[in-house]
Amino acid sequence: MVETSKTATLVIDDKRIELPVQQGTCGPDVVDIGKLYAKGDIFTYDPGFTSTASCESSITFIDGEEGILLHRGYPIGQLASKSHYLEVCYLLLYGELPTTAELEDFENRVTAHTMLHEQMTYFFRGFRRDAHPMAIMVGVVGAMSAFYHDSTDISDQWQREVASIRLIAKMPTIAAWAYKYSIGQPMVYPRNDLDYASNFLRMCFSVPAEDYVVDPVLARAMDRIFTLHADHEQNASTSTVRLASSSGANPFACIAAGIACLWGPAHGGANQACLEMLREIGTVDRIPEYIARAKDKEDPFRLMGFGHRVYKNFDPRAKVMKESADEVLELLGVEDNETLKIAKQLEKIALEDDYFAEKKLYPNVDFYSGVILDAMGFPTSMFTPIFSLSRTVGWIAQWKEMLNDPVQKIGRPRQLYTGAESRDYVDIETR
Ligand code: SDX
Repeated sequence: MVETSKTATLVIDDKRIELPVQQGTCGPDVVDIGKLYAKGDIFTYDPGFTSTASCESSITFIDGEEGILLHRGYPIGQLASKSHYLEVCYLLLYGELPTTAELEDFENRVTAHTMLHEQMTYFFRGFRRDAHPMAIMVGVVGAMSAFYHDSTDISDQWQREVASIRLIAKMPTIAAWAYKYSIGQPMVYPRNDLDYASNFLRMCFSVPAEDYVVDPVLARAMDRIFTLHADHEQNASTSTVRLASSSGANPFACIAAGIACLWGPAHGGANQACLEMLREIGTVDRIPEYIARAKDKEDPFRLMGFGHRVYKNFDPRAKVMKESADEVLELLGVEDNETLKIAKQLEKIALEDDYFAEKKLYPNVDFYSGVILDAMGFPTSMFTPIFSLSRTVGWIAQWKEMLNDPVQKIGRPRQLYTGAESRDYVDIETR
């Protein structure tokens, strides 16, 4: 953060309050209001945090007007085409692209932690078979704090590192086992000779009764989807992880809180909701009906996978995802995918419509991801668990950054109170 000589002056009645302005590397400056209440006995008010920076961070930068997404300065398009997920994990966690030796060491550390404590298999069996895999993810990740006591003390740097590696390593196993449990198939153990994405695909789609060879096309597509979802600045689930962590809660409990928040259809749950919407639309000729509903103020229906709090231009991840959808479906020989056809036509019609243009609503990361995951054989219920798996590294990187921030303290917002003023209790006989 760069202290500037600039100040913002707030004039309220006869009071003038000078507030310092801070500058970052890129993006808007911030007005530091930390002393506003003490100086002026007044709060700021910003439901949904539309104009509020909650922290200083050097991990991810988004320019919503230009449709730019940088991880430690590297554009997402370059990372998606030139890098791979575990290398992006290293970049997000440690700030720089790794050397060959650093990457090999990191990949070996992750590979060595992919198995779960055997007792946890019984934890899965406590759920109904029809439990949503996200319910299982929230429960099992939270329960990790009951199994990995040697990596819950956040004051210990070594324990933070072990918890970070354990979470990144075990999320594919947890997500895959949640899937296997939901379809009544035996859980498949990870294999250390497979790369991260291939391991996940094998744990999801192999059965003990026959050999399973991971399709390298699917593995590449899976890895790219992981990369595209890795981190995204101070989104709702990341802010949840930061707020939970600010009380000193253990990392497993905080990541479980992030998973719970991501589940919502306005956030990471949109990928499942979007594919279900595309299926409900069913044919291209029904698109105008749904566009009209999305524009109708009286109708709560929204185009899932469309719009974004920050992007007022194309979500750069959606662009890469759209290209990947074409490539994966062609390589899978999925000709004439009706869902993809509807998605593309829906995007075209929406972007030509004044309503979406005026409100700057564009496809976001969730618009095309479901088409690919569906073509790869995943049920819609597994879309958000895959998002959670991918975003775990982003949550952890932001968690570690917050713990190392000298100014961090417990997050405790205030409010604008509009309830009853003080009044005396009334006995029930006289009410
Ligand atoms: C993710 O924050 C992140 O970075 C999240 C994420 C990440 O990587 O972590 O990018 C992942 O969550 C992507 C977003 C996935 N959600 C969806 O696709 C659900 C559908 N989208 C919307 O619900 C909405 O666009 C949000 C929640 C994404 C953003 O909501 P905002 O910023 O609070 O905007 P808003 O709800 O105030 O909408 C502004 C206007 C409203 O109209 P008016 O009241 O001004 O007349 O745009 C309209 C909305 O009605 N609008 C839509 C719309 N999204 C917004 N109208 C129709 N369809 C939509 N999808």
